[in-house]
Amino acid sequence: DEAIELAELAKRMGIKANEMIAKLMTLGVMATVNQTIDFETATLVATEFDFDVEKASFEEEALLNHEIDGDDEDKKIGRAPVVTIMGHVDHGKTSLLDVIRKSKITSGEAGGITQHIGAYNVETPNGGRVTFLDTPGHAAFTAMRSRGAQVTDIVILVVAADDGVMPQTIEAINHSKAAGVPVVVAVNKMDKAGADPDRIMRELSELDLLAEEWGGSVIFVKVSAKTGEGIDDLLEMVLLQSEVLELKANPDRKAMGYVVESRLDTGRGAVATVLVKQGTLSDGDPIVCGLYSGRIRAMIDDSGSRIDAAGPSTPVEIIGLSGVPDAGDEFIAVASDKDAKQIAGNRMQKQRAKELAKKSRANLEKMFENL
Ligand code: GTP
Ligand code: MG
Repeated sequence: DEAIELAELAKRMGIKANEMIAKLMTLGVMATVNQTIDFETATLVATEFDFDVEKASFEEEALLNHEIDGDDEDKKIGRAPVVTIMGHVDHGKTSLLDVIRKSKITSGEAGGITQHIGAYNVETPNGGRVTFLDTPGHAAFTAMRSRGAQVTDIVILVVAADDGVMPQTIEAINHSKAAGVPVVVAVNKMDKAGADPDRIMRELSELDLLAEEWGGSVIFVKVSAKTGEGIDDLLEMVLLQSEVLELKANPDRKAMGYVVESRLDTGRGAVATVLVKQGTLSDGDPIVCGLYSGRIRAMIDDSGSRIDAAGPSTPVEIIGLSGVPDAGDEFIAVASDKDAKQIAGNRMQKQRAKELAKKSRANLEKMFENL
């Protein structure tokens, strides 16, 4: 009854005919290219691909669990908060970051401004450190949240005092709420003639962001990226908020964290800006990042200097990956190049099988309908 030629089936499943023959052979079915395959056998082949996927995941889990072992609570120490700046278009996110960076960045780092990096670490006037995620970090934030990973500790919601709450303001609030991240509101453009901070407070109170001075719990800071007004206050409030969170990490273990942005550089190959969440990433570490593996060949900090080690909450550019990972991908340092390659290989296979399974399931149904 229902049957299809092996060659045709393989073609529609997006795999090579001899790959399918090999797969069938492991199932005890001897087949040739011209042979016909029934639905049951076709399903078995697909299942077999899925089985590989399960097995690979299991092995990966075992390896990674091994890496995470020994992450004791008492080894954790305070770390800098990771802050994402969000808000509506043109409300002044980049300008605020610029003024924070230019005026507060330590003198040695000043030359690094030309180099764009999606994340940077800033020393505040009273000596505390804050890691900021720039707009590309916004994209990563969304990607990571959809995977249940949390990279941001605090959100600075920028609202222009002369414009009010806009669609992307609401979007940012929803992101922060879903992630359970505290929000500090920066009412920006206070220097402008039409600035009306009370209106912003009123509009945001309707969205459950009630200002402290109105009996709520949300910190509002009036700022101007143009004049610099309120910037020190804003940093102060962010640090205050972060103290409440008691952010901690163990620097004394293999590193793990997330990709903030990535690109293919003609000279250097795959370049990824990562944010270390736990542990310390060191030059030469074998790592897995998304579907790729590699060994850290160079690390560059947010001022453009080469560094040997990057601890918790440190944003750093890494070179040495076999491919370009996606923003939001997790990276983890592992014990050996062999482990790194194995895990990345498993993930690649898993990814491929997933696509195959998706394609083949749809194709199988369609092709057997039409027989
Ligand atoms: P997108 O990245 O497009 O979402 O915008 P953004 O939120 O990063 O805004 P950006 O910093 O690019 O600022 C938009 C415009 O507002 C620019 O022309 C800034 O010069 C201006 N601007 C930003 N902050 C202030 C401020 O405090 N006062 C005044 N007068 N202008 C500001
Ligand atoms: Mg911008």
